[in-house]
Amino acid sequence: MDPLEELWSAALAVFDRAYAPYSRFKVAAAVRSVSGAVFVGVNVENAAYPVGTCAEAGAIAAMITAGERSIDAIFILGDGAGHTTPCGACRQRLHEFSAPETLVHVGGPEGHRATYTMAELLPHGFALDRPRDADEQD
Ligand code: THU
Repeated sequence: MDPLEELWSAALAVFDRAYAPYSRFKVAAAVRSVSGAVFVGVNVENAAYPVGTCAEAGAIAAMITAGERSIDAIFILGDGAGHTTPCGACRQRLHEFSAPETLVHVGGPEGHRATYTMAELLPHGFALDRPRDADEQD
């Protein structure tokens, strides 16, 4: 399967599980790590609004939980007609595990709409001088 279609399809498979009763705006994200594995997440809202989490955060958490630390590409699938680009906080979340050329695809239930690079979405993202592959427990 085409790599872009694979990510879209993985996001679409979980899209309806998004919990968005407050905004009524469902989002699903599918992250492919550099190993080729795909991890998905959906937005999970909360009656205490700021406690809600974005789809990207869920997909990144699944990737990290599986022991992977490098994102090859991400597909963000959102409700509505526009481009569901990641929020500012999620750009920084993605930056932690991405490269400037990492692709961020956006689209809807019908398919792909646009592609950005991480460098376009978050130039000069914040990073500490600690390699993310370092096995640091302290
Ligand atoms: N949301 C995401 O999950 N990811 C994005 O990239 C944009 C926004 C969620 C947060 C909230 O649950 C809903 O979409 C409306 O903002």
